[in-house]
Amino acid sequence: MAIFKRAKKSEETLSIKDIVLPQHIGIIMDGNGRWAKKRGLPRTAGHTHGAQTFRKIARYCSDIGIKYLTVYAFSTENWKRPQKEVDAIMKLFKDYLIEAITDFKDDSIVVKFIGDRSVFSDQMRELIEKNEEESKDRDGMVLNIAMNYGGRDEIVHAVKNIADDVKTGKLDVNDITDKLLSDNMYTCGQPDPDLIIRPSGEYRTSNFLLWQSAYAEYCIMDVLWPDFKSEDLDRALIEFAKRNRRFGGV
Ligand code: FPP
Repeated sequence: MAIFKRAKKSEETLSIKDIVLPQHIGIIMDGNGRWAKKRGLPRTAGHTHGAQTFRKIARYCSDIGIKYLTVYAFSTENWKRPQKEVDAIMKLFKDYLIEAITDFKDDSIVVKFIGDRSVFSDQMRELIEKNEEESKDRDGMVLNIAMNYGGRDEIVHAVKNIADDVKTGKLDVNDITDKLLSDNMYTCGQPDPDLIIRPSGEYRTSNFLLWQSAYAEYCIMDVLWPDFKSEDLDRALIEFAKRNRRFGGV
């Protein structure tokens, strides 16, 4: 897998107006810590800039007609970070939850949260639910924010639900299919991601959308998330359009 470098403008002849866009994009918002370190700033400053980038890129995706965007904001493993850093990310998340209730109204964005929300405070959970409730009837892009999300955790959660239904006789073992598993994921009813973008040059899935990414195209980019611009998204989209997706066929 080659890293996708920022091309000189003159080298790229295609524009996003010329291509078929993916329906669903996933973004691993990586590189905030390195961005801060390069500037002699605390890691938390990287997250603050990363949160700003998130707002801009989410709006841009909605503007160009992306139907689903999933961003990885905090994983089930990120609790291992220093408490100060975890607190700073939670504060950014809370500020965003308060702002998002009205922020995305004009863009008709539907805001959803994926992950295990049981660990959050009552206030955070209420804000999450309020965001989902207020935006659920909008007709624009679906924005999934993955918080306390882990792909393995999601699969375990789905399997437990299904096992419960088998135990109570609601389901037969033979009813267990790919589709049933998909329907028990947090992304139930949504198409799988077509494209997953990972800025910061790391070649890892990091437990992101493990079930849903079976046939996703990965685009690893040489830019740190706080520096990520709409032009970088365009480059990933053009790269995606050049891929030959076969889904296991020929
Ligand atoms: C990964 O970079 C980033 C995170 C674990 C946190 C991402 C959080 C935000 C962008 C802000 C909060 C989000 C919302 C929705 C308001 P890293 O810290 O692992 O960077 P590094 O690999 O360079 O250390």
